[in-house]
Amino acid sequence: MADYDLIVIGAGPGGYVCAIRAAQLGMKVACVEGRGALGGTCLNVGCIPSKALLHASHLYAEADGHFADMGIIAEPKIDMDRMQQYRATQVEQLTGGVAFLFKKNKVDWIDGWAKIDGPGKVSVKMNDGGDKTLAAKNIIIATGSEPAPLPGVEVDEKRVVSSTGALTLESVPKKLVVIGAGVIGLELGSVWRRLGAEVQVIEYLDHITPGMDSEISTQFQKILTKQGLQFTMESAVQGVDASGDRLVVTYKNRKDDSEHTTDADIVLLATGRRAFTDGLGLEEAGIAVSKRGQVEVDAKWKTNVDGIYAIGDVIDGPMLAHKAEDEGVAVAEHIAGQHAHIEYNLIPGVIYTDPEVANVGATEEQLKEQGRAYKVGKFPFMANGRAKAHFATDGFAKVIADAETDRILGVHVIGPSAGELIHEYCVAMEFGAAAEDIARTCHAHPTLSEAMREAAMACGSGAIHM
Ligand code: NAI
Repeated sequence: MADYDLIVIGAGPGGYVCAIRAAQLGMKVACVEGRGALGGTCLNVGCIPSKALLHASHLYAEADGHFADMGIIAEPKIDMDRMQQYRATQVEQLTGGVAFLFKKNKVDWIDGWAKIDGPGKVSVKMNDGGDKTLAAKNIIIATGSEPAPLPGVEVDEKRVVSSTGALTLESVPKKLVVIGAGVIGLELGSVWRRLGAEVQVIEYLDHITPGMDSEISTQFQKILTKQGLQFTMESAVQGVDASGDRLVVTYKNRKDDSEHTTDADIVLLATGRRAFTDGLGLEEAGIAVSKRGQVEVDAKWKTNVDGIYAIGDVIDGPMLAHKAEDEGVAVAEHIAGQHAHIEYNLIPGVIYTDPEVANVGATEEQLKEQGRAYKVGKFPFMANGRAKAHFATDGFAKVIADAETDRILGVHVIGPSAGELIHEYCVAMEFGAAAEDIARTCHAHPTLSEAMREAAMACGSGAIHM
């Protein structure tokens, strides 16, 4: 007899959401999580704590900048202990909230580290010292990801940090070197820059945020440079020497092979993440993994072993909490015999810098590669009244639509609240909307959303305020 209908391994956004949805659908569910708190990387050391520090540092920068322009005289000071307490409290409250939801939905939290012993069998090394063996009809692997290592760079989470250590620094570093101009490097680089650190970002490629629409990426780099981030492009970091008082970072310029060094108090390694499967027993259980170490699944998230599924960062696709959540819901519904589907082309991406950057659908580069005929409508926030009143005029909205049918194919925004504004288009694109559908929809004035509408108008007969 199975103890459970479903055992979910990992309580990040993929795992905990899946466990709750499965319980709502009538399954008896357990979720194994060994971190000592629910919520995974996202709630504990990722999305949530970084947003707390981004929010606090944004307000500090505003108080030190535009406040005076609006006639508010403030002399802000940083109390790092309190800022870190604020971050920790937010995390505690949200992870506690997941524990409450588990109780409410009768999901058992098994507090330990799981190993898959075969179909339907899981053994758990309990954090209280004991061992537990559990049987279930279905197992879901939702173990997430971990920072990928870089040869020559030893992370100690004190001076050489991953995103985890970069969130808990006790003081503002004088100089921070960030390795990698991806999402993590730019969000956390922004936090410490705003709080006063000198920040140098070393990037392998000739552009930041690989995969992003290149027009947006170019503008993004200009804006961040204006905010004081220094970019060293086309440079491959070779190693970090931590033997002295100051860290010494060595990097090679890829154009002329010349070698350079730079020193720092703190180095943040942000060159990507990889699937986390340590101790899961995948090999013994015969579960196939890809060359990149990700668990392989079919279109319904099933591994090559019946009754074992995988979702989230541990499988292929963007490593995003909301992608994992959607997969968690979908796989629970699939196991319950319902129709489950995710529109993978319409998963939004957001970078929570100031301004924010958001996108959904295809980039111009992707459409060119596909040889697809398209048109582009753009609108700058400089011409939006609300943005102007807020001193938030950096950036623009860009809508790409099919040249013939006008169907929206991609939307890219850099600007204030871009991460909220993008969802109008997520919904529209789910319904197969044309740019004209947005252009003809009444938008309240004065709102930032008007810029999104004007970009759609610019795809057709033209924007009004340009
Ligand atoms: P990333 O893949 O976004 O960026 C890594 C960057 O490092 C790339 O630009 C790459 O060219 C560069 N790089 C690689 N090796 C290098 C070297 N030796 N020297 C210099 N540069 C080098 O990875 P990141 O920022 O670590 O993020 C990991 C994952 O976490 C991503 O999949 C991201 O989507 C996710 N994430 C998403 C967030 C969001 O949606 N707001 C926030 C934080 C993370």
